[in-house]
Amino acid sequence: MSSLINLICLLIAFVGNLSISQLCQPNRIITAVNGQLPGPTIRAREGDTVVVHLVNESPYSMTIHWHGIFQRGSQWADGPAMVTQCPFQPGGNYTYSFNVTGQEGTLWWHAHFSFLRATVYGALIILPRGGAKAYPFAKPDKEEQMALLTGIPAGPADAYTINGKPGDFYHCSAMRNLCEPIRKNETYLLRIINAALNTPLFFKVANHSFTVVAADACYTTPYKTDVVVVGPGQTVDALMVADAAVGRYYMAASPYDSGIPSGPPFSKTNATAVLEYAGGPNTTLPPALPQLPQFNDTDTADRTWPTVPLAVDTRMFVTVGMGVADCQPEQTLCNRSRTMFASSMNNESFVPPRSTSMLEAHYSNATAGVYTRDFPDQPPVVFDYTADASNNATMQYTTKSTKVRTLRYNETVEMVLQNTRLIAKESHPMHLHGFNFFVLAQGFGNYNQTTTAPQFNLVNPQERNTVLVPAGGWAVIRFIADNPGMWYMHCHFEAHLDLGLGMVFEVQDGPTPDTSLPPPPKDLPQC
Ligand code: C2O
Repeated sequence: MSSLINLICLLIAFVGNLSISQLCQPNRIITAVNGQLPGPTIRAREGDTVVVHLVNESPYSMTIHWHGIFQRGSQWADGPAMVTQCPFQPGGNYTYSFNVTGQEGTLWWHAHFSFLRATVYGALIILPRGGAKAYPFAKPDKEEQMALLTGIPAGPADAYTINGKPGDFYHCSAMRNLCEPIRKNETYLLRIINAALNTPLFFKVANHSFTVVAADACYTTPYKTDVVVVGPGQTVDALMVADAAVGRYYMAASPYDSGIPSGPPFSKTNATAVLEYAGGPNTTLPPALPQLPQFNDTDTADRTWPTVPLAVDTRMFVTVGMGVADCQPEQTLCNRSRTMFASSMNNESFVPPRSTSMLEAHYSNATAGVYTRDFPDQPPVVFDYTADASNNATMQYTTKSTKVRTLRYNETVEMVLQNTRLIAKESHPMHLHGFNFFVLAQGFGNYNQTTTAPQFNLVNPQERNTVLVPAGGWAVIRFIADNPGMWYMHCHFEAHLDLGLGMVFEVQDGPTPDTSLPPPPKDLPQC
């Protein structure tokens, strides 16, 4: 009989200033955890309790989100500022505690306030209870993990990075090996996390291919590919056999620009790191570089997406996209026409409350002035969402609101996410807190229920917490609302989230204490 002892993984983390010298700029101050970029990796086993004690030595208010963790019974630890908690102040500290039960694979953590996640992030790896030998795929000889990240908030990034370093295709950036030399014919598990603020990425290794075995901490039917596509917020676990000639090879991450016409400016550069085989000739020749897809290679970006399936319960049809809204009173720099860019879901542009978090308002049943329960199940008008010339005045103009969709405990929700082409056409990595969902189908153009529903993949749909809704297309997701609380759903492009591309599900308590929201921790930060 095996003993099942759940361990407590304790991490004490200091968020503070870190001086880095990269890209010819000496001593730039960034906010980082424990002086590391990426921050420390949290390794747990399924069933463990993770306790992270955060000390805020940075000049910013802070919250941390545990991206992809269900937070059953620990809803107060989810982290998005003003949705589940007020941020904790500079000089303050806060302890997050949650169980990692019923989940295995690669997730990550990041700041969930303002743009701080640009540098405040790290991996969160959940091993099977039985350790690596319990993987449902061939046990790798070695595990590596890499986080891919862009640097700067709005506007083009300074650089993409692999494990915090840009690699040798940038000025003042030295060639560097990713890890210890790898060994011929050994199998490596790569944990690829897109921590970029605003950019989907292609990932390749010269002369090597991958077998994808998991995405967003869900095992997948394994499939072979030589390129991995990851949207911001998504993770992919891939096995790579070191079966190339002994030598040195670049791994590279390059941007995928889904915008049509081209989206906002982005850096057309590649982050690289060097993979070196043990026992290779001692040479200074440059490593082989993989052939990277074009920035706008939508065929490649969509190739790995299964066209999938399903049945229905509560049905929502939700447009996601860009628009404009009136300037808010505090925006003194808003332009002369008194409108600004805004993004929205069903034409509701989300703004978080200021005085208290939504979860506290929900718990104490004091929602007046914090949020309203009228998030619509349909857009206000039906039009040709994705035609190149589509420009619907009603939909382009949006207003700021804090609306939630209330769900009964255990309600099954099917949501069509329909991208629009108002102002611009761009993909949106839509992330749901508190749940995984099944991706039943994806496609281009306007969603058609009659023709698509019979083709839903009900057999082996991808299970994820973040779905890249294609530019000029749609995705259908389904989840069961069996986790009471307030759960943010939003675009994981930080720039779009900031413009209001989000909404919140309010999931009511179930019939038992076990299926109800517990009271808040006594030390929950106050606004
Ligand atoms: Cu990884 Cu609400 O985000």
